[in-house]
Amino acid sequence: MAFLEIKNISKSYDMKGSSLLVIDDFSYEAEKGDLISLTGPSGAGKSTLLNIIGGLDKPTKGNILFDGKDLYSRKESELNSYRGKNMGFIFQFHYLLDDFNALENIMMPMLIHNISKSEAEKRACELIESVGLSDRKNHYPNELSGGEQQRIAVARALAMKPDIILADEPTGNLDKANSKAVIDILKKQSENGVCVIIVTHDDFIASECIKHITMQKL
Ligand SMILES: Nc1ncnc2c1ncn2[C@@H]1O[C@H](COP(=O)(O)OP(=O)(O)O)[C@@H](O)[C@H]1O
Ligand SMILES: [Mg+2]
Repeated sequence: MAFLEIKNISKSYDMKGSSLLVIDDFSYEAEKGDLISLTGPSGAGKSTLLNIIGGLDKPTKGNILFDGKDLYSRKESELNSYRGKNMGFIFQFHYLLDDFNALENIMMPMLIHNISKSEAEKRACELIESVGLSDRKNHYPNELSGGEQQRIAVARALAMKPDIILADEPTGNLDKANSKAVIDILKKQSENGVCVIIVTHDDFIASECIKHITMQKL
C-alpha cells in the first residue's frame, strides 16, 4: 500500500446551472521520500489537486488515502487535526502573522497543538537555523525581505514534522538565490523521508524533483 493514493479523482465546480470540469479521473501513488513536481498551464487544476490532497477541498469523485485510510471519510474535526499534525503547506504568498516575529511565527503551529512553549521555542530555533535565518529571529515579517519571509514560512510548515509537504508555487515570487534555498530545504526534507509535492512554473525547480506530474487544461 502506497503512503498516498490518489484514486480516480474528478472535480467539477457548479457554475449557475452548468458544471465546469477541472480534473477528470486522475490517479497517482506517492511514497514517503518522494520529491514530485506538479506542472501544467495556468487553469489546469494544479492548485485544486493540491487542495484536494490536503483535505481542503472535497473531490466530486474519487478518494484520497493516506496509509490506506480515506481522508474525506474522517469527521471534519478529525480531518483538521490530521492535517495539522501530518501536513505542511507552503503557498506563493506566505501568510505570516504580521504581529509576531519570525521565531514566534514558526512556533505558532506547535503552540496550537499544545506543545510546551519551551519545546516549541527550541524546535523553532533549530528550524530557523536550518533555513539560515538565525540572525533574524526577532524580525517582524515587514522587517524581512520577500525571500526571508518565504524561508520563515517554509520553516513554519516543517514545525510539526509533517509526513507530506504541499507547496503551491513556493518560489513564484523569489529570485534565483532564494528559490535555490527553498528547493534545497525541500529536497533535504524528502531525503529525510517526507513526501514533497511542489506546484511550479519554474523549470529549474521542476528539474530538481525526482518525479513529475503534468496536468493539462481540460
Ligand atoms: N471555487 C471555484 N469555483 C469555480 N471555478 C474554480 C474554482 N476554483 C478554481 N476554479 C477553476 O478551476 C480551474 C483550475 O483552477 P486551479 O486549480 O487554480 O488551476 P492552476 O492552479 O493549475 O492554475 C480554473 O479554470 C479555475 O477558474
Ligand atoms: Mg494554482
